[in-house]
Amino acid sequence: PREKGWITPYLYLFQGFWYSSTEIQAINTFQNQFQAKDNDVVIASVPKSGTTWLKALTFAILHRQYFPSLENHPLLIFNPHELVPPFEFVIYDEINGQTHDLSKMPKPRIFGTHVPFTSLAKSIKETDCKIIYICRNLFDTFVSTWVFVNKIMPKFLPTLPLEEAFERYCEGIIGFGPSWNHILDYWKESIARPKKVLFLKYEDLKENVHFNVKKIAEFLGCPFTKEEENSEVIENIIKLCSFEKMKELKVNKSGTMGKGRIVENKYFFRKAEIGDWVNYFSPSMVEKLSKIIEEKLSRSGLSFRVYD
Ligand code: A3P
Repeated sequence: PREKGWITPYLYLFQGFWYSSTEIQAINTFQNQFQAKDNDVVIASVPKSGTTWLKALTFAILHRQYFPSLENHPLLIFNPHELVPPFEFVIYDEINGQTHDLSKMPKPRIFGTHVPFTSLAKSIKETDCKIIYICRNLFDTFVSTWVFVNKIMPKFLPTLPLEEAFERYCEGIIGFGPSWNHILDYWKESIARPKKVLFLKYEDLKENVHFNVKKIAEFLGCPFTKEEENSEVIENIIKLCSFEKMKELKVNKSGTMGKGRIVENKYFFRKAEIGDWVNYFSPSMVEKLSKIIEEKLSRSGLSFRVYD
């Protein structure tokens, strides 16, 4: 099935989720060709759920022995999406239809993906590589997406007025959607295999980033030592990856996410708030999305904080 998209001209249903045609090509290539290693780490999410933040934190935590000094840390020089490349946009190059050379990536390798659990490369599921999933309440995720699209799209791609985009969203029609199925599949996997999948929420990270940084380190098998805990190591990582710091860095104010791409680095840093959706939602929109969330998620035990 094909539907008129927003963000991309058309969206196609593939393995239960909606994508642009180039994303489907990318996923096919990645499913067939990507060979995961046991020590790889995959950061997975629905777009606009806090992926950039989690990528920065995970990179800083996992590679801290190589980059103990924060003075010339790679995160000061490169955008998090360059250090943690997304499979479906960067590793598979839609422009020339090839996969990139991965041999020069810092090890252990960290990848990003918006691909739902069901469509991940088999090797990711079968090796011991770990997955960290981040999700965010759907109200803020929708608004963050709509604003993101409307900032860049007028020049390049089709966009929709808020109300129309919202209707599509509620039907699950959005790239990598339905978002609730995306979240639920990773949630179930994290319960079935807690050593394989760590499930995080953006709101929890905002509430207690220190606790979650330690949790990520433990999950990845590199817990902070007592010595590290007593020094500034954790606080420095948190500061380096903070919204305020990241947004101000030159690399994140300029440049694009990969060569020839239209998405500028600066678009990944907007407000970083919980509850900005109140500035966009009408009462009927609140009612409609609340109903969907109740229907889709209530039995899962998953819930989200929607106000700060
Ligand atoms: P808003 O648009 O609500 O501001 P993603 O990285 O998945 O694309 O998600 C982007 C959202 O995360 C944006 O939300 C962005 O501002 C926020 N964000 C980016 N970097 C962040 C950071 N270091 N800390 C907290 N939030 C961050």
